[in-house]
Amino acid sequence: MNKSRIGILTGGGDCAGLNPAIKWVVKTALDERLEAERGVRYEVLGIRDGWKGLVEVDTAGPARWEFNMHGHDAARPVLLTQDAVRTWDRYGGTMLGTSRTNPYDPKKDRSSEVLANIEKLGLEALIVIGGEDTLGVAHKLSHKGVNVVGIPKTIDKDLPGTDYTLGFETALNVITEEVDRLRTTAGSHKRIFVVETMGRDAGWLALEGGESSGAYIILIPEYDFSIQKVNELLLEGKRMGSRYDIIVVAEGAKPVGGTQAVARKGVDSFGHETLGGIGEALATEIQDATGLETRSIVLSHLQRGGAPCAYDRRMGRYFGIAAVDLVVREDFDKMVSFRGGAITAVPLKEATGKLHVVDVKTMYDVERYNGRRAILR
Ligand code: F6P
Repeated sequence: MNKSRIGILTGGGDCAGLNPAIKWVVKTALDERLEAERGVRYEVLGIRDGWKGLVEVDTAGPARWEFNMHGHDAARPVLLTQDAVRTWDRYGGTMLGTSRTNPYDPKKDRSSEVLANIEKLGLEALIVIGGEDTLGVAHKLSHKGVNVVGIPKTIDKDLPGTDYTLGFETALNVITEEVDRLRTTAGSHKRIFVVETMGRDAGWLALEGGESSGAYIILIPEYDFSIQKVNELLLEGKRMGSRYDIIVVAEGAKPVGGTQAVARKGVDSFGHETLGGIGEALATEIQDATGLETRSIVLSHLQRGGAPCAYDRRMGRYFGIAAVDLVVREDFDKMVSFRGGAITAVPLKEATGKLHVVDVKTMYDVERYNGRRAILR
């Protein structure tokens, strides 16, 4: 029986949970029961470095596709075996590598090369693990006849069409652990600490990270904050006897009438600026206005690093298995999704539209700049 070849890639910012998803795509696709039950045999070809690995490809063929953990030639895909991926659910990042390469970059459109390479590599289906940008490319390619299936990932949890995106829970654990660490030193010195999390357009990381770490103030991109109000809340806390306080602010949050803090000039090939700096700016303003000693830290890429937590390992597993189920069903241009407590699938179009952001009305306390205090009313 001929084998059908599935390609798999990870694109955009890395996060924990990617390797478990890759592992379970491979284990499911290569399960011999699939052959007995459905009469299909698959092999899985790992594409290196996101879309970059399909722009310039060494199409020399299977003889060159042996898996080598140490060699990393972006142009050379690797045949993934069950043995190669056996331990991958323990590891953070992505063994396949990733990039922010956009084949549809308006400055240099390379989508025709990607299409030609998919053909040359003999990929009958392509499983794409990514956020809005990476999955947006997948959706465009499906209009050109590529059989794509998406798996959602981003620590920002801002993809529409799913309640969960890989990497989010591990990032929350990092925020919670780091705030716990800060509390002892903040308390000893009676300082305010401003903790800047990632979250460009959506405040999920700051909101849920702030909730799980018990932050006093949480600032999110969905609601512009007043610096006077922040200072008043801090002074009120002091009057009530608090020795120190923790503020969690998303990198994309901004003051009323202000703009997002940009760390570096220029944009990536998807048109995004690199945000960063709101935490330090806020700390300076607070200290100047209140006289309370205030420091800031940026959690930055620590939130994307480290081993996946138990939840990301399980969700990676379920998403990986479900992605292969869609390939078997030939149900393409879909993204696997977690909705209402169940694994399901949604059209990719739905997953790449408007971002999924915090609903301020039901989830954010605009009086206290914190998580909601009413849940059942
Ligand atoms: O998109 C996910 C994200 O974590 C954003 O929150 C952040 O702005 C961005 O990635 C930073 O990515 P990088 O520094 O890797 O380009």
